[in-house]
Amino acid sequence: MALTFRKLHPHFVGESSPVELRKAHDEETLAQIRAGMDEFAVLVFHDQAFSDAEQLAFGQRLDGRLHQGTGSRAFTKSRLDNEALSDISNLAANGEIMKADDRRRHYTLGNRLWHTDASFVNPPGRYSMLHARVVPPVPADTEFADMRAAYDALPADMKAQLEGLRAHHSVAYSRHVLGFEFSAEEQEKLKGAIHPLVRTIPRSLRRSLYLASHQSRIIDWPIPEGRLLLRDLMEHATQPEFVYRHAWRVGDLVIWDNRATMHRARPFDDAKYRRELRRVTTLDIEQPALAAAGS
Ligand code: OGA
Ligand code: MN
Repeated sequence: MALTFRKLHPHFVGESSPVELRKAHDEETLAQIRAGMDEFAVLVFHDQAFSDAEQLAFGQRLDGRLHQGTGSRAFTKSRLDNEALSDISNLAANGEIMKADDRRRHYTLGNRLWHTDASFVNPPGRYSMLHARVVPPVPADTEFADMRAAYDALPADMKAQLEGLRAHHSVAYSRHVLGFEFSAEEQEKLKGAIHPLVRTIPRSLRRSLYLASHQSRIIDWPIPEGRLLLRDLMEHATQPEFVYRHAWRVGDLVIWDNRATMHRARPFDDAKYRRELRRVTTLDIEQPALAAAGS
């Protein structure tokens, strides 16, 4: 059955017609979702009843190899038993709401900074697929910003200036900004990665700003000038005209292209309400559709 997508924002975000993704195995449906990602950069699927195993399997079917090296792995073991499944929740190992001074909570608050997933490793993250299991009765939304529209809106001289520039991405940097410190031993595991500041998305060939709060500096530039440029770009790219705010319903699966968007969590009373989502992120390596029929 052909999927259709309803655009939820002037620039991006498509809401899918009904489909049960855990049962979507046919290449035609997967190809329609990939084409939807090329066009909309964020896709919203309601009423998905994924188990962990089904969510992991769907992620691989759609986009290939999964990212396993989350930043939190440097200091804590996941509550979930698979490193490819990110625990996006405010719950401690015992299933209770985390204490305010829990180190993992402090780390997780970093999701409230604008970022792209796994930009501090190489290869970085490509598609992230976040599934809502428990949502609070109060708004606890996620915002997305379209980095293709933000790039397009830059003045020509700025586009020219950005050409060829690269930035260093480090999760230790973004966390340090919030007062979260990794030990020297933990930092050893978190060297960061260098990525271009402007990317061209294969297939759609749209150009995109590759930004994240993990960016600590521009390579080959002095630190203050590089940080100021990154701040200006961040300010530009997160203006309201580029931002969509997603209000979660239980069962929503939202897929975003980390090459084409940034996102951030919005605050809610996390000492009072449980919020539990699970994320699978693929690696930005060769697309499975091109890589072979082997999978
Ligand atoms: C993520 C993330 C934001 C949120 O899952 O990668 O940043 O609102 N989530 O939980
Ligand atoms: Mn994230």
